[in-house]
Amino acid sequence: MTVMLSHPLKHLDEMLPWNDKLQMLECISAVEEAPDVMTFSFRTPDHNWFRYAPGQFVTLELPVSPEPVMRTYTLSSTPSRPYSLAVTVKAQKDSIGTRWMLDHLRPGMQIRAYGPTGDFSLHNHPGEKYLFISAGSGITPMMSMTRWLHDCSPASDIVFINCARTPDEIIFHDELRLLATRVEALKLAFIVKQSAPRHAWSGLHGRIDRSRLELLAPDFIDRTVFCCGPEPFMRAVREALQAMGFDMARYHQESFQPAAETVVTPPSPATGSPDAASQAATVRFTLSGVEVECAADDTVLLAARNAGLKIPSACEFGVCGTCKVLCSSGETMMSHNGGIRDDEIEEGYILACCTRPIGQIEIDA
Ligand code: FES
Repeated sequence: MTVMLSHPLKHLDEMLPWNDKLQMLECISAVEEAPDVMTFSFRTPDHNWFRYAPGQFVTLELPVSPEPVMRTYTLSSTPSRPYSLAVTVKAQKDSIGTRWMLDHLRPGMQIRAYGPTGDFSLHNHPGEKYLFISAGSGITPMMSMTRWLHDCSPASDIVFINCARTPDEIIFHDELRLLATRVEALKLAFIVKQSAPRHAWSGLHGRIDRSRLELLAPDFIDRTVFCCGPEPFMRAVREALQAMGFDMARYHQESFQPAAETVVTPPSPATGSPDAASQAATVRFTLSGVEVECAADDTVLLAARNAGLKIPSACEFGVCGTCKVLCSSGETMMSHNGGIRDDEIEEGYILACCTRPIGQIEIDA
């Protein structure tokens, strides 16, 4: 499903890059890829171009009822085609946000978004040769990186392994086969758990394991590995590689799991003990004029919630960067998982979901 562009395209040098603050995206196409899987492409209403690293993700604010939810999705598009970006999403059983996208998000609609961000990219971990291993919709960052290599470095040596439940559920199957005819050193392998007789599946059956890895990438030991899929899948890959003596410094993985529903953590109990008092912290939210006391092990995000304030959040474990806020005064302790850059930390930004206040602090929120 596509719509005609309603404004003329500008040259790239006339456009500003999209930044990672909250901004609007306008859906320009919604394409079915596989059962319960769709690709949504976006542009910005303000003629921005998209600057990101292949493999990064965005956080979308999805207007489901009764409350919007924040969901993080890896980009399947490539920054070598910077006028639009795309996410390819699979609605899992019981998913709320992704199901809303499949059922309601259509060309012409606008949603709010943060990003792109994330460390899982060959730009951050370049190698001589690559081994991309994915399961299900964990294929999306691999697709972004493969498209980028096709456009910008077509002599790249890539072994691309994807595991799916059935042949029908292999995402980007046709496009990958086409790419393999154009990128000489792109070797594809698909492993399915089951196939109906009608498919006449001639590929591999079963699961990824040590012998499969050796078979499909005999020179795996020389490759830089990117892996994305459910945690049991990634554990199997890690264990197989470790058992074969692979240098795990060249192994990179991205957790791929359905976005968690918002966790509402109960307020910390007030103890009133001298110890607790000495550990208590105070967070002043300068833009709202609200001040709240909290325990030293409360996060800034929890302190905000307890004060009735809303700081946008999605992953809540320091990956997506959605909850980034400026700490304008005071000391904090942050334990993040790559959702914030070093220069942002130097400027005083923190991730509210994984930062604890020390003493008195001020947050611009
Ligand atoms: S909510 Fe994702 S980094 Fe805080």
